[in-house]
Amino acid sequence: MRLKKRIILFFILMIFVNGCIAAQETMTNVYGRNLQLLNGKWNIIIDLYSLGRPMEIFLNKKPTNKKEYFEYSFDNNTYLNVPSDWNSQMPELKYYEGTIWYARHFTPYHTQNERLFLYFGAVNYRCRIYLNGKEIGEHEGGFTPFQIEITNIVKDNSDNFIAVEVNNNRTTDAIPGMSYDWWNYGGITRDVMLVYTPHNYINDYFIQLDKYKSDEIHAWVSLSDKRRNQQVQIEIPELNVKQKMMTDSSGMAKISFKVRKFERWSPQSPKLYNVVLSSNSDKITEQIGFRNLYVKGEDIYLNGKPIFFKGVSFHEEISQREGRAFSEADASMLLSEAKALGVNIVRLAHYPQNEYTLRMAEKMGIMLWEEIPVWQKIDFANQETLNKADKMLKEMIIRDKNRCALSVWGVANETRPSEARDKFLKHLIDTCRRLDPTRLITAASDLVNFNKETQLFELKDTIINYLDIVAVNKYMGWYHPWPMSPDKVRWNVAPGKPVVISEFGCEALYGKTGDTDVKSSWSEDFQANVYRDNLTMFNHITNLKGVSPWVLFDFRSPYRFNPNQSGWNRKGLVSDQGMRKKAWYIMHDYYQNIKK
Ligand code: GCU
Repeated sequence: MRLKKRIILFFILMIFVNGCIAAQETMTNVYGRNLQLLNGKWNIIIDLYSLGRPMEIFLNKKPTNKKEYFEYSFDNNTYLNVPSDWNSQMPELKYYEGTIWYARHFTPYHTQNERLFLYFGAVNYRCRIYLNGKEIGEHEGGFTPFQIEITNIVKDNSDNFIAVEVNNNRTTDAIPGMSYDWWNYGGITRDVMLVYTPHNYINDYFIQLDKYKSDEIHAWVSLSDKRRNQQVQIEIPELNVKQKMMTDSSGMAKISFKVRKFERWSPQSPKLYNVVLSSNSDKITEQIGFRNLYVKGEDIYLNGKPIFFKGVSFHEEISQREGRAFSEADASMLLSEAKALGVNIVRLAHYPQNEYTLRMAEKMGIMLWEEIPVWQKIDFANQETLNKADKMLKEMIIRDKNRCALSVWGVANETRPSEARDKFLKHLIDTCRRLDPTRLITAASDLVNFNKETQLFELKDTIINYLDIVAVNKYMGWYHPWPMSPDKVRWNVAPGKPVVISEFGCEALYGKTGDTDVKSSWSEDFQANVYRDNLTMFNHITNLKGVSPWVLFDFRSPYRFNPNQSGWNRKGLVSDQGMRKKAWYIMHDYYQNIKK
Protein backbone atom coordinates (compact mmCIF):
# COMPACT_ATOMS: atom_id res chain seq x y z
CA MET A 1 0.00 0.00 0.00
CA ARG A 2 2.78 2.48 1.09
CA LEU A 3 4.66 1.79 -2.21
CA LYS A 4 1.48 2.37 -4.26
CA LYS A 5 0.90 5.67 -2.39
CA ARG A 6 4.48 6.74 -3.09
CA ILE A 7 4.12 5.96 -6.82
CA ILE A 8 0.89 7.96 -7.11
CA LEU A 9 2.54 10.88 -5.26
CA PHE A 10 5.48 10.68 -7.67
CA PHE A 11 3.12 10.85 -10.68
CA ILE A 12 1.26 13.90 -9.28
CA LEU A 13 4.60 15.66 -8.68
CA MET A 14 5.75 14.95 -12.21
CA ILE A 15 2.53 16.46 -13.61
CA PHE A 16 2.92 19.68 -11.63
CA VAL A 17 6.65 19.95 -12.25
CA ASN A 18 6.39 20.13 -16.00
CA GLY A 19 2.74 19.77 -16.67
CA CYS A 20 3.35 16.40 -18.18
CA ILE A 21 5.16 13.13 -17.69
CA ALA A 22 8.41 12.85 -19.63
CA ALA A 23 8.49 9.67 -21.69
CA GLN A 24 10.65 6.85 -20.29
CA GLU A 25 13.98 5.61 -21.55
CA THR A 26 13.32 2.82 -23.99
CA MET A 27 13.95 -0.88 -23.57
CA THR A 28 16.52 -2.16 -26.06
CA ASN A 29 15.65 -4.43 -29.02
CA VAL A 30 11.95 -3.62 -29.09
CA TYR A 31 11.49 -5.69 -32.27
CA GLY A 32 12.56 -8.77 -30.28
CA ARG A 33 9.63 -8.30 -27.92
CA ASN A 34 5.97 -9.35 -27.84
CA LEU A 35 4.41 -6.58 -29.96
CA GLN A 36 1.04 -5.33 -31.19
CA LEU A 37 1.54 -2.78 -33.96
CA LEU A 38 -0.64 0.35 -33.93
CA ASN A 39 0.38 1.35 -37.45
CA GLY A 40 -2.20 2.12 -40.10
CA LYS A 41 -4.68 4.93 -40.73
CA TRP A 42 -5.09 7.38 -37.85
CA ASN A 43 -7.73 10.10 -37.75
CA ILE A 44 -6.29 13.58 -37.72
CA ILE A 45 -7.16 17.16 -36.90
CA ILE A 46 -4.94 19.87 -38.39
CA ASP A 47 -4.52 22.39 -35.54
CA LEU A 48 -2.97 25.47 -37.16
CA TYR A 49 -3.10 27.62 -34.01
CA SER A 50 -2.28 24.78 -31.58
CA LEU A 51 -5.58 25.36 -29.77
CA GLY A 52 -6.54 21.70 -29.51
CA ARG A 53 -4.98 21.35 -26.08
CA PRO A 54 -6.79 24.26 -24.38
CA MET A 55 -9.95 23.05 -26.17
CA GLU A 56 -9.22 19.59 -24.63
CA ILE A 57 -9.97 17.84 -27.90
CA PHE A 58 -8.06 14.85 -26.49
CA LEU A 59 -11.19 14.17 -24.41
CA ASN A 60 -12.85 13.18 -27.68
CA LYS A 61 -16.19 14.30 -26.35
CA LYS A 62 -19.44 13.49 -28.16
CA PRO A 63 -22.73 15.38 -27.80
CA THR A 64 -24.97 13.45 -25.41
CA ASN A 65 -28.08 15.44 -26.24
CA LYS A 66 -29.51 17.76 -28.91
CA LYS A 67 -28.31 20.92 -27.13
CA GLU A 68 -24.73 19.80 -26.73
CA TYR A 69 -22.13 20.24 -29.44
CA PHE A 70 -18.36 20.27 -29.72
CA GLU A 71 -16.34 22.17 -32.31
CA TYR A 72 -14.20 19.16 -33.10
CA SER A 73 -14.51 15.45 -33.82
CA PHE A 74 -11.94 12.83 -34.75
CA ASP A 75 -14.65 10.84 -36.56
CA ASN A 76 -14.00 13.08 -39.52
CA ASN A 77 -12.92 10.75 -42.36
CA THR A 78 -9.60 12.55 -42.45
CA TYR A 79 -6.71 10.16 -42.06
CA LEU A 80 -2.97 10.00 -42.22
CA ASN A 81 -0.92 6.82 -42.53
CA VAL A 82 1.30 5.88 -39.62
CA PRO A 83 4.24 5.51 -39.95
CA SER A 84 4.94 8.28 -42.43
CA ASP A 85 5.48 12.03 -42.55
CA TRP A 86 2.41 14.21 -43.15
CA ASN A 87 4.05 16.35 -45.86
CA SER A 88 4.01 13.65 -48.55
CA GLN A 89 0.47 12.51 -47.83
CA MET A 90 -1.57 15.62 -48.61
CA PRO A 91 -0.64 18.44 -51.03
CA GLU A 92 -1.90 20.99 -48.50
CA LEU A 93 0.56 19.61 -45.92
CA LYS A 94 3.65 19.69 -48.14
CA TYR A 95 4.98 22.88 -46.51
CA TYR A 96 3.02 22.52 -43.24
CA GLU A 97 4.84 23.32 -40.01
CA GLY A 98 2.61 23.33 -36.96
CA THR A 99 0.42 20.99 -34.91
CA ILE A 100 -1.53 17.99 -36.10
CA TRP A 101 -3.48 15.68 -33.81
CA TYR A 102 -3.45 11.96 -34.56
CA ALA A 103 -6.02 9.69 -32.91
CA ARG A 104 -7.23 6.12 -33.00
CA HIS A 105 -8.86 3.40 -30.93
CA PHE A 106 -7.13 0.19 -29.87
CA THR A 107 -7.82 -2.86 -27.74
CA PRO A 108 -4.88 -4.38 -25.86
CA TYR A 109 -4.82 -8.06 -24.96
CA HIS A 110 -2.61 -8.03 -21.92
CA THR A 111 -3.02 -10.32 -18.94
CA GLN A 112 -2.51 -9.64 -15.20
CA ASN A 113 1.08 -10.85 -15.17
CA GLU A 114 2.16 -8.60 -17.98
CA ARG A 115 3.22 -4.98 -18.26
CA LEU A 116 2.23 -2.85 -21.22
CA PHE A 117 4.15 -0.08 -22.93
CA LEU A 118 3.37 2.33 -25.74
CA TYR A 119 6.47 2.59 -27.95
CA PHE A 120 7.06 5.20 -30.66
CA GLY A 121 9.96 4.71 -33.11
CA ALA A 122 10.02 8.47 -33.70
CA VAL A 123 7.70 11.49 -33.83
CA ASN A 124 8.91 14.76 -35.40
CA TYR A 125 9.52 17.03 -33.60
CA ARG A 126 7.73 17.26 -30.23
CA CYS A 127 4.59 15.53 -29.03
CA ARG A 128 2.23 14.92 -26.13
CA ILE A 129 0.38 11.65 -25.70
CA TYR A 130 -3.15 11.35 -24.29
CA LEU A 131 -4.82 8.06 -23.36
CA ASN A 132 -8.54 7.92 -22.68
CA GLY A 133 -8.56 11.69 -22.18
CA LYS A 134 -5.57 11.75 -19.80
CA GLU A 135 -2.19 13.22 -20.65
CA ILE A 136 0.35 10.44 -20.11
CA GLY A 137 3.61 11.60 -21.63
CA GLU A 138 5.61 13.89 -23.86
CA HIS A 139 8.75 13.72 -25.93
CA GLU A 140 10.99 16.11 -27.82
CA GLY A 141 13.33 15.11 -30.63
CA GLY A 142 12.30 13.85 -34.04
CA PHE A 143 14.63 10.91 -34.60
CA THR A 144 14.84 8.76 -31.48
CA PRO A 145 12.37 6.37 -29.83
CA PHE A 146 10.50 6.75 -26.58
CA GLN A 147 8.09 4.68 -24.54
CA ILE A 148 5.39 5.19 -21.93
CA GLU A 149 4.23 2.51 -19.52
CA ILE A 150 0.43 2.20 -19.59
CA THR A 151 0.01 -0.98 -17.53
CA ASN A 152 -2.01 0.80 -14.83
CA ILE A 153 -3.64 3.36 -17.12
CA VAL A 154 -5.03 1.28 -19.98
CA LYS A 155 -8.48 -0.33 -20.03
CA ASP A 156 -7.77 -4.07 -20.32
CA ASN A 157 -9.14 -6.00 -23.26
CA SER A 158 -11.48 -3.17 -24.15
CA ASP A 159 -11.56 -0.08 -26.31
CA ASN A 160 -9.03 2.65 -25.57
CA PHE A 161 -8.68 6.02 -27.26
CA ILE A 162 -5.23 7.46 -27.91
CA ALA A 163 -4.52 10.99 -29.13
CA VAL A 164 -1.06 12.23 -30.12
CA GLU A 165 -0.48 15.99 -30.39
CA VAL A 166 2.43 16.42 -32.82
CA ASN A 167 4.19 19.71 -33.50
CA ASN A 168 7.15 20.36 -35.80
CA ASN A 169 7.63 24.07 -35.43
CA ARG A 170 11.30 25.03 -35.53
CA THR A 171 12.59 26.85 -32.45
CA THR A 172 16.00 28.31 -31.57
CA ASP A 173 16.43 26.03 -28.53
CA ALA A 174 15.71 22.85 -30.49
CA ILE A 175 18.00 20.19 -32.03
CA PRO A 176 18.29 20.88 -34.97
CA GLY A 177 17.80 24.66 -34.73
CA MET A 178 15.93 27.14 -36.94
CA SER A 179 17.41 26.29 -40.32
CA TYR A 180 18.84 23.11 -41.77
CA ASP A 181 19.41 21.67 -45.21
CA TRP A 182 16.73 18.97 -45.18
CA TRP A 183 12.95 18.87 -45.21
CA ASN A 184 11.24 19.34 -41.87
CA TYR A 185 9.01 16.29 -42.31
CA GLY A 186 6.42 16.28 -39.55
CA GLY A 187 4.39 13.48 -38.05
CA ILE A 188 4.50 10.02 -36.53
CA THR A 189 7.28 8.96 -38.84
CA ARG A 190 8.10 5.47 -37.52
CA ASP A 191 6.33 2.40 -36.12
CA VAL A 192 4.01 2.70 -33.12
CA MET A 193 3.44 -0.38 -31.04
CA LEU A 194 2.17 -1.87 -27.82
CA VAL A 195 4.91 -3.86 -26.09
CA TYR A 196 3.95 -6.66 -23.69
CA THR A 197 6.58 -7.65 -21.12
CA PRO A 198 6.68 -9.76 -17.96
CA HIS A 199 6.58 -7.71 -14.76
CA ASN A 200 10.29 -8.18 -14.36
CA TYR A 201 11.69 -7.93 -17.89
CA ILE A 202 15.09 -7.74 -19.53
CA ASN A 203 15.27 -4.00 -20.00
CA ASP A 204 18.68 -3.39 -21.54
CA TYR A 205 21.92 -5.13 -22.45
CA PHE A 206 25.23 -4.52 -24.18
CA ILE A 207 27.16 -7.44 -25.67
CA GLN A 208 30.35 -6.66 -27.52
CA LEU A 209 33.73 -8.13 -28.42
CA ASP A 210 36.59 -6.37 -26.66
CA LYS A 211 37.86 -3.27 -28.47
CA TYR A 212 41.25 -4.94 -29.04
CA LYS A 213 41.18 -8.60 -27.90
CA SER A 214 39.79 -10.92 -30.54
CA ASP A 215 38.69 -13.63 -28.08
CA GLU A 216 37.00 -11.80 -25.22
CA ILE A 217 33.35 -10.76 -25.04
CA HIS A 218 32.12 -8.21 -22.49
CA ALA A 219 28.45 -8.15 -21.58
CA TRP A 220 26.03 -6.57 -19.18
CA VAL A 221 22.33 -7.19 -18.82
CA SER A 222 19.94 -5.06 -16.77
CA LEU A 223 16.56 -6.18 -15.49
CA SER A 224 13.63 -3.87 -14.84
CA ASP A 225 13.54 -4.99 -11.18
CA LYS A 226 16.50 -3.22 -9.62
CA ARG A 227 17.32 -6.06 -7.20
CA ARG A 228 20.41 -8.10 -6.30
CA ASN A 229 20.93 -11.84 -6.93
CA GLN A 230 18.62 -12.36 -9.85
CA GLN A 231 19.96 -14.93 -12.29
CA VAL A 232 20.52 -13.96 -15.91
CA GLN A 233 21.92 -16.14 -18.70
CA ILE A 234 23.56 -15.41 -22.04
CA GLU A 235 23.60 -18.17 -24.65
CA ILE A 236 25.25 -18.21 -28.07
CA PRO A 237 24.18 -21.68 -29.24
CA GLU A 238 26.38 -21.68 -32.37
CA LEU A 239 29.44 -21.09 -30.17
CA ASN A 240 28.33 -23.39 -27.31
CA VAL A 241 28.37 -20.37 -25.05
CA LYS A 242 26.18 -20.53 -21.94
CA GLN A 243 27.08 -18.01 -19.27
CA LYS A 244 25.15 -17.56 -16.03
CA MET A 245 25.49 -14.39 -13.95
CA MET A 246 23.81 -12.67 -10.99
CA THR A 247 22.56 -9.12 -10.79
CA ASP A 248 23.88 -6.47 -8.40
CA SER A 249 21.66 -4.11 -6.37
CA SER A 250 20.90 -2.06 -9.48
CA GLY A 251 19.53 -5.13 -11.25
CA MET A 252 22.55 -5.29 -13.55
CA ALA A 253 24.67 -8.37 -14.21
CA LYS A 254 28.10 -8.08 -15.82
CA ILE A 255 30.46 -10.66 -17.28
CA SER A 256 33.45 -11.11 -19.55
CA PHE A 257 34.20 -14.46 -21.11
CA LYS A 258 36.51 -16.04 -23.67
CA VAL A 259 35.28 -17.33 -27.00
CA ARG A 260 37.28 -19.39 -29.48
CA LYS A 261 36.98 -20.11 -33.17
CA PHE A 262 34.30 -17.72 -34.24
CA GLU A 263 33.93 -15.44 -37.19
CA ARG A 264 34.37 -11.76 -36.60
CA TRP A 265 31.93 -9.42 -38.40
CA SER A 266 33.29 -7.42 -41.32
CA PRO A 267 31.93 -5.92 -44.57
CA GLN A 268 33.33 -8.90 -46.45
CA SER A 269 31.71 -11.43 -44.06
CA PRO A 270 28.89 -9.83 -42.04
CA LYS A 271 28.51 -12.78 -39.69
CA LEU A 272 25.81 -12.41 -37.02
CA TYR A 273 25.16 -14.85 -34.17
CA ASN A 274 21.89 -15.65 -32.49
CA VAL A 275 22.23 -14.56 -28.87
CA VAL A 276 19.61 -15.66 -26.35
CA LEU A 277 19.22 -13.70 -23.12
CA SER A 278 17.06 -15.12 -20.37
CA SER A 279 16.11 -14.43 -16.78
CA ASN A 280 13.68 -16.17 -14.46
CA SER A 281 10.74 -14.41 -16.12
CA ASP A 282 11.88 -13.13 -19.50
CA LYS A 283 13.66 -14.32 -22.64
CA ILE A 284 14.77 -12.34 -25.69
CA THR A 285 16.75 -13.23 -28.80
CA GLU A 286 19.07 -10.90 -30.58
CA GLN A 287 21.30 -11.05 -33.63
CA ILE A 288 24.76 -9.76 -32.77
CA GLY A 289 28.05 -9.59 -34.62
CA PHE A 290 31.46 -9.37 -32.99
CA ARG A 291 34.31 -7.22 -34.28
CA ASN A 292 37.32 -5.29 -32.99
CA LEU A 293 37.44 -1.60 -33.88
CA TYR A 294 40.00 0.97 -32.80
CA VAL A 295 42.24 3.79 -33.93
CA LYS A 296 46.01 3.61 -33.60
CA GLY A 297 47.96 6.64 -34.75
CA GLU A 298 46.63 7.69 -38.13
CA ASP A 299 45.02 4.32 -38.87
CA ILE A 300 41.56 2.90 -38.24
CA TYR A 301 41.68 -0.84 -37.50
CA LEU A 302 38.88 -3.33 -38.05
CA ASN A 303 39.65 -6.81 -36.72
CA GLY A 304 43.32 -5.94 -36.44
CA LYS A 305 43.71 -4.70 -40.03
CA PRO A 306 43.82 -1.06 -41.23
CA ILE A 307 40.60 -0.15 -43.05
CA PHE A 308 39.80 2.69 -45.47
CA PHE A 309 36.26 4.02 -45.20
CA LYS A 310 34.61 3.87 -48.62
CA GLY A 311 31.58 5.86 -47.67
CA VAL A 312 28.51 7.73 -48.79
CA SER A 313 25.80 9.66 -46.95
CA PHE A 314 22.06 9.62 -47.30
CA HIS A 315 19.09 11.25 -45.62
CA GLU A 316 16.19 9.15 -44.32
CA GLU A 317 14.15 9.99 -47.39
CA ILE A 318 12.71 8.17 -50.39
CA SER A 319 13.08 10.87 -53.02
CA GLN A 320 10.65 9.25 -55.43
CA ARG A 321 7.80 9.79 -52.95
CA GLU A 322 9.26 12.99 -51.47
CA GLY A 323 8.83 11.52 -48.01
CA ARG A 324 10.55 9.92 -45.03
CA ALA A 325 11.88 6.38 -45.29
CA PHE A 326 10.41 4.20 -42.54
CA SER A 327 10.12 0.57 -43.64
CA GLU A 328 12.26 -2.47 -44.37
CA ALA A 329 11.53 -2.01 -48.07
CA ASP A 330 12.75 1.60 -47.87
CA ALA A 331 15.90 0.47 -46.08
CA SER A 332 16.67 -2.06 -48.76
CA MET A 333 16.15 0.56 -51.47
CA LEU A 334 18.56 3.03 -49.87
CA LEU A 335 21.18 0.47 -48.85
CA SER A 336 21.23 -1.54 -52.05
CA GLU A 337 22.05 1.61 -54.02
CA ALA A 338 24.85 2.35 -51.54
CA LYS A 339 26.09 -1.24 -51.86
CA ALA A 340 26.04 -0.97 -55.64
CA LEU A 341 28.30 2.09 -55.40
CA GLY A 342 30.83 -0.11 -53.60
CA VAL A 343 30.76 1.40 -50.10
CA ASN A 344 31.82 -0.31 -46.88
CA ILE A 345 30.30 2.43 -44.67
CA VAL A 346 27.25 4.70 -44.76
CA ARG A 347 26.95 8.00 -42.90
CA LEU A 348 23.34 8.27 -41.74
CA ALA A 349 22.92 12.04 -42.22
CA HIS A 350 22.37 13.97 -39.95
CA TYR A 351 20.23 12.19 -37.39
CA PRO A 352 19.53 8.64 -36.07
CA GLN A 353 17.63 6.79 -38.78
CA ASN A 354 15.10 3.98 -38.31
CA GLU A 355 16.12 0.63 -36.89
CA TYR A 356 15.30 -1.25 -40.10
CA THR A 357 18.09 0.61 -41.86
CA LEU A 358 20.65 -0.18 -39.16
CA ARG A 359 19.78 -3.86 -38.89
CA MET A 360 19.72 -4.31 -42.66
CA ALA A 361 23.06 -2.51 -43.13
CA GLU A 362 24.55 -4.89 -40.60
CA LYS A 363 23.25 -7.89 -42.53
CA MET A 364 24.54 -6.41 -45.79
CA GLY A 365 28.03 -5.82 -44.38
CA ILE A 366 27.83 -2.05 -44.37
CA MET A 367 29.47 -0.23 -41.47
CA LEU A 368 27.59 2.76 -40.09
CA TRP A 369 28.25 6.28 -38.86
CA GLU A 370 25.32 7.65 -36.85
CA GLU A 371 24.91 11.14 -35.43
CA ILE A 372 22.52 13.48 -33.64
CA PRO A 373 21.35 16.63 -35.50
CA VAL A 374 23.62 19.14 -33.76
CA TRP A 375 23.81 20.80 -37.18
CA GLN A 376 25.52 24.18 -37.72
CA LYS A 377 23.72 26.90 -35.71
CA ILE A 378 22.62 25.58 -32.30
CA ASP A 379 21.90 27.51 -29.07
CA PHE A 380 25.07 26.16 -27.42
CA ALA A 381 24.88 28.45 -24.40
CA ASN A 382 21.40 27.21 -23.51
CA GLN A 383 21.49 24.49 -20.79
CA GLU A 384 18.06 23.24 -21.88
CA THR A 385 19.36 22.71 -25.42
CA LEU A 386 22.35 20.80 -24.05
CA ASN A 387 20.00 18.60 -22.01
CA LYS A 388 18.00 17.86 -25.17
CA ALA A 389 21.12 16.93 -27.15
CA ASP A 390 22.39 14.78 -24.29
CA LYS A 391 19.06 12.95 -24.11
CA MET A 392 18.97 12.36 -27.87
CA LEU A 393 22.48 10.92 -27.70
CA LYS A 394 21.45 8.56 -24.88
CA GLU A 395 18.30 7.46 -26.72
CA MET A 396 20.35 6.78 -29.85
CA ILE A 397 23.00 4.78 -27.97
CA ILE A 398 20.44 2.78 -25.97
CA ARG A 399 18.71 1.74 -29.20
CA ASP A 400 21.76 1.01 -31.37
CA LYS A 401 24.73 0.06 -29.18
CA ASN A 402 24.44 -3.66 -29.99
CA ARG A 403 24.75 -3.05 -33.75
CA CYS A 404 28.35 -4.09 -34.49
CA ALA A 405 28.10 -2.39 -37.91
CA LEU A 406 27.77 0.88 -36.03
CA SER A 407 31.34 2.13 -35.93
CA VAL A 408 31.22 5.89 -35.51
CA TRP A 409 29.13 8.17 -33.31
CA GLY A 410 28.87 11.73 -34.62
CA VAL A 411 28.10 14.40 -32.01
CA ALA A 412 27.88 17.41 -34.37
CA ASN A 413 28.16 18.73 -37.94
CA GLU A 414 29.79 22.01 -39.02
CA THR A 415 29.64 23.96 -35.75
CA ARG A 416 31.58 27.15 -35.06
CA PRO A 417 34.22 27.06 -32.29
CA SER A 418 33.31 29.11 -29.20
CA GLU A 419 33.58 28.59 -25.48
CA ALA A 420 29.91 27.55 -25.32
CA ARG A 421 30.23 25.26 -28.36
CA ASP A 422 33.35 23.56 -27.03
CA LYS A 423 31.75 22.98 -23.62
CA PHE A 424 28.62 21.64 -25.32
CA LEU A 425 30.47 19.18 -27.54
CA LYS A 426 32.86 18.05 -24.80
CA HIS A 427 29.83 17.22 -22.67
CA LEU A 428 28.36 15.12 -25.48
CA ILE A 429 31.69 13.40 -26.14
CA ASP A 430 31.94 12.50 -22.42
CA THR A 431 28.40 11.12 -22.44
CA CYS A 432 29.24 9.04 -25.48
CA ARG A 433 32.46 7.64 -23.98
CA ARG A 434 30.70 6.86 -20.72
CA LEU A 435 27.78 5.02 -22.31
CA ASP A 436 29.82 3.32 -25.01
CA PRO A 437 33.62 3.24 -24.66
CA THR A 438 33.87 0.87 -27.64
CA ARG A 439 33.14 3.10 -30.64
CA LEU A 440 34.92 5.88 -32.48
CA ILE A 441 33.70 9.44 -31.96
CA THR A 442 33.75 12.34 -34.39
CA ALA A 443 32.18 15.70 -35.22
CA ALA A 444 32.25 16.80 -38.88
CA SER A 445 34.05 20.11 -39.39
CA ASP A 446 34.02 22.50 -42.36
CA LEU A 447 36.89 24.60 -41.06
CA VAL A 448 39.72 23.31 -43.25
CA ASN A 449 41.02 26.38 -45.02
CA PHE A 450 43.89 27.26 -47.34
CA ASN A 451 46.71 29.09 -45.61
CA LYS A 452 48.35 31.38 -48.14
CA GLU A 453 51.56 31.59 -46.10
CA THR A 454 52.13 27.87 -45.78
CA GLN A 455 50.34 27.09 -49.09
CA LEU A 456 48.72 24.25 -47.17
CA PHE A 457 45.17 23.39 -46.19
CA GLU A 458 44.96 23.49 -42.39
CA LEU A 459 42.32 23.01 -39.70
CA LYS A 460 42.14 25.22 -36.64
CA ASP A 461 39.57 23.73 -34.28
CA THR A 462 40.65 22.55 -30.84
CA ILE A 463 37.71 20.14 -30.55
CA ILE A 464 39.63 17.65 -32.76
CA ASN A 465 41.81 16.82 -29.77
CA TYR A 466 38.78 15.08 -28.22
CA LEU A 467 37.87 13.11 -31.32
CA ASP A 468 39.03 9.68 -32.56
CA ILE A 469 38.49 10.53 -36.21
CA VAL A 470 38.84 14.01 -37.74
CA ALA A 471 35.97 14.36 -40.20
CA VAL A 472 36.14 17.14 -42.76
CA ASN A 473 33.42 18.55 -44.99
CA LYS A 474 35.12 20.34 -47.89
CA TYR A 475 33.51 21.33 -51.19
CA MET A 476 36.50 22.09 -53.39
CA GLY A 477 35.41 23.22 -56.84
CA TRP A 478 31.92 24.14 -55.59
CA TYR A 479 31.76 26.27 -52.42
CA HIS A 480 35.55 26.68 -52.47
CA PRO A 481 37.79 27.62 -55.45
CA TRP A 482 40.98 25.69 -56.16
CA PRO A 483 44.02 27.77 -55.06
CA MET A 484 46.08 25.62 -57.42
CA SER A 485 45.60 22.56 -59.57
CA PRO A 486 44.20 19.63 -57.54
CA ASP A 487 47.29 17.44 -57.91
CA LYS A 488 49.43 20.20 -56.34
CA VAL A 489 47.18 20.70 -53.31
CA ARG A 490 48.65 19.60 -49.97
CA TRP A 491 47.00 19.24 -46.58
CA ASN A 492 48.43 19.51 -43.09
CA VAL A 493 45.34 18.55 -41.11
CA ALA A 494 45.41 16.74 -37.75
CA PRO A 495 48.73 14.98 -38.26
CA GLY A 496 48.82 11.85 -36.07
CA LYS A 497 45.07 11.27 -36.42
CA PRO A 498 43.00 9.58 -39.12
CA VAL A 499 41.24 12.10 -41.37
CA VAL A 500 38.02 11.21 -43.20
CA ILE A 501 36.47 13.45 -45.86
CA SER A 502 32.88 13.31 -44.61
CA GLU A 503 31.47 15.54 -47.36
CA PHE A 504 32.58 16.72 -50.82
CA GLY A 505 30.86 17.06 -54.17
CA CYS A 506 28.63 19.50 -56.04
CA GLU A 507 25.22 19.98 -57.61
CA ALA A 508 24.05 18.64 -60.99
CA LEU A 509 20.62 18.23 -62.49
CA TYR A 510 20.26 14.73 -63.90
CA GLY A 511 20.20 14.70 -67.66
CA LYS A 512 21.83 18.09 -67.96
CA THR A 513 25.03 18.03 -69.99
CA GLY A 514 27.46 20.90 -70.40
CA ASP A 515 31.01 22.16 -70.02
CA THR A 516 33.07 20.42 -67.41
CA ASP A 517 34.36 23.74 -66.08
CA VAL A 518 31.20 25.83 -66.06
CA LYS A 519 29.64 25.75 -62.61
CA SER A 520 26.45 27.44 -63.77
CA SER A 521 25.88 24.62 -66.24
CA TRP A 522 24.49 22.52 -63.37
CA SER A 523 25.57 19.70 -65.61
CA GLU A 524 26.55 16.13 -64.83
CA ASP A 525 29.77 16.79 -66.71
CA PHE A 526 30.73 19.61 -64.36
CA GLN A 527 29.85 17.43 -61.35
CA ALA A 528 31.89 14.53 -62.74
CA ASN A 529 34.88 16.82 -63.15
CA VAL A 530 34.60 18.12 -59.61
CA TYR A 531 34.73 14.49 -58.46
CA ARG A 532 37.80 13.76 -60.57
CA ASP A 533 39.58 16.80 -59.15
CA ASN A 534 38.75 15.98 -55.53
CA LEU A 535 39.81 12.34 -55.91
CA THR A 536 43.11 13.61 -57.34
CA MET A 537 43.59 15.88 -54.31
CA PHE A 538 42.78 13.01 -51.92
CA ASN A 539 45.75 11.05 -53.20
CA HIS A 540 48.00 13.63 -51.52
CA ILE A 541 46.41 13.72 -48.08
CA THR A 542 48.81 11.47 -46.20
CA ASN A 543 46.58 10.67 -43.21
CA LEU A 544 43.39 10.21 -45.26
CA LYS A 545 41.54 7.10 -44.04
CA GLY A 546 38.24 7.47 -45.73
CA VAL A 547 35.99 9.49 -48.01
CA SER A 548 32.22 9.97 -48.15
CA PRO A 549 30.70 11.92 -51.05
CA TRP A 550 27.83 14.28 -50.27
CA VAL A 551 25.40 12.67 -51.12
CA LEU A 552 23.93 9.45 -52.54
CA PHE A 553 20.50 10.81 -53.55
CA ASP A 554 19.17 14.27 -54.42
CA PHE A 555 17.06 15.26 -51.42
CA ARG A 556 14.38 17.83 -50.53
CA SER A 557 15.68 21.08 -49.13
CA PRO A 558 13.69 24.16 -48.11
CA TYR A 559 16.26 26.70 -49.31
CA ARG A 560 17.34 25.51 -52.75
CA PHE A 561 15.61 27.99 -55.08
CA ASN A 562 17.59 27.78 -58.33
CA PRO A 563 15.34 26.46 -61.14
CA ASN A 564 17.72 23.51 -61.50
CA GLN A 565 17.08 22.78 -57.85
CA SER A 566 13.42 23.75 -57.28
CA GLY A 567 13.43 22.64 -53.66
CA TRP A 568 16.01 19.88 -54.07
CA ASN A 569 19.63 19.66 -53.04
CA ARG A 570 21.02 18.28 -56.30
CA LYS A 571 24.35 17.03 -54.96
CA GLY A 572 23.12 13.48 -55.30
CA LEU A 573 25.09 10.90 -57.26
CA VAL A 574 21.61 9.55 -57.99
CA SER A 575 18.70 11.77 -59.04
CA ASP A 576 15.36 12.11 -57.26
CA GLN A 577 13.99 9.62 -59.77
CA GLY A 578 16.72 7.04 -59.02
CA MET A 579 18.86 7.74 -62.07
CA ARG A 580 22.66 7.51 -61.67
CA LYS A 581 24.59 10.60 -62.71
CA LYS A 582 28.02 10.48 -64.40
CA ALA A 583 29.80 11.16 -61.11
CA TRP A 584 28.29 7.93 -59.71
CA TYR A 585 30.42 5.91 -62.12
CA ILE A 586 33.58 7.85 -61.20
CA MET A 587 32.97 7.12 -57.52
CA HIS A 588 32.11 3.51 -58.29
CA ASP A 589 35.40 3.00 -60.20
CA TYR A 590 37.36 4.76 -57.44
CA TYR A 591 35.97 2.33 -54.85
CA GLN A 592 36.54 -0.65 -57.14
CA ASN A 593 40.18 0.23 -57.72
CA ILE A 594 41.27 1.78 -54.46
CA LYS A 595 44.27 -0.16 -53.05
CA LYS A 596 43.99 1.07 -49.44
C1 GCU B 1 26.87 20.96 -45.57
C2 GCU B 1 25.97 20.14 -44.68
C3 GCU B 1 24.98 19.32 -45.43
C4 GCU B 1 24.47 20.13 -46.62
C5 GCU B 1 25.65 20.36 -47.53
C6 GCU B 1 25.25 21.15 -48.76
O1 GCU B 1 28.09 20.56 -45.57
O2 GCU B 1 26.62 19.34 -43.76
O3 GCU B 1 23.94 18.99 -44.57
O4 GCU B 1 23.44 19.49 -47.26
O5 GCU B 1 26.60 21.13 -46.87
O6 GCU B 1 25.40 22.36 -48.71
O7 GCU B 1 24.81 20.55 -49.73
